[in-house]
Amino acid sequence: MLSKSAARTFFVAGTGVCAAAFLGLTFDTLAKVPERSKAAQMTESVRRGHDLWTDNNCMGCHTLLGEGAYYAPELTQVVNRRGAAWIKTFLKDPEAMFPGKRKMVRYDFTDRDRDDLVAFFSWVGEIDTNGFPPTPVYRMTGGPAVGAAPMKGTPPPTFEQVCVACHALGGKGGAVGPALDGVASRYTTEKLHTWLADPQAVKPGTAMPNLGLSEADRGALVDFLMLQK
Ligand code: HEC
Ligand code: HEC
Repeated sequence: MLSKSAARTFFVAGTGVCAAAFLGLTFDTLAKVPERSKAAQMTESVRRGHDLWTDNNCMGCHTLLGEGAYYAPELTQVVNRRGAAWIKTFLKDPEAMFPGKRKMVRYDFTDRDRDDLVAFFSWVGEIDTNGFPPTPVYRMTGGPAVGAAPMKGTPPPTFEQVCVACHALGGKGGAVGPALDGVASRYTTEKLHTWLADPQAVKPGTAMPNLGLSEADRGALVDFLMLQK
């Protein structure tokens, strides 16, 4: 049994040590915040993206840094996962990218709004979160042509960030649409242009969305696709 005064000393000393450890760790954490949150990279565009994020209540459906609602995907690493071009195309018209299957709201954002949101997501993705969220293992549901030869030429960024989500080429890519190996022997330049400009007009009801590609983007894509003989 401790005597009354020993118990008091024990209590006071214990409280003192724990309080000191608590203050020390708090101070240490706060000192690391600017470094870990990459505060220096918080540009005007990042701030505007953040305001769009809060003003539109994106958190009503999404989580960011683990906080928010669980209806829609976690977005902390969305830029790593999808790439800037994919996100901008998606935000323009989410439904077009996944016809009839998706529930993401279509907002009337300007190009600048979309740039700001991507800047915000890029910044969030750079925060040192001690490894949150863990990298998921993606499983392919089929798709790439068996024994496909490597792709020819260098794919334009749009191809790597948007098209590969649904199409395989050279043995890699998504399985929503057909593999694009040998596409140049099935299509002419003109037919590819018409298809990419508006797939729905060529084949009403097709699962390939109208991606709102610019003339320049389409040109680069068609040049690249025509190399895939
Ligand atoms: C009503 C719920 C809802 C709201 C509000 C919402 N989203 Fe979404 N969002 C979704 C769903 C559901 C998906 C998954 C794709 C789909 O089903 O369309 C998604 C997907 C996304 C994706 C692609 C994620 C991925 O990995 O594929 C991005 C980026 C995104 N949302 C951004 C936003 C932004 C920015 C806002 C606010 C301006 C917002 N969302 C508001 C429901 C919502
Ligand atoms: C959301 C998924 C999706 C995305 C993104 C997508 N496609 Fe498609 N694509 C499809 C589907 C599904 C088809 C099959 C259409 C059909 O036959 O109804 C298709 C068909 C095609 C075809 C015809 C292929 C053939 O062998 O007949 C080409 C070429 C093509 N896509 C190119 C592209 C390019 C280039 C991009 C990027 C700019 C792209 N696609 C983005 C889903 C997608």
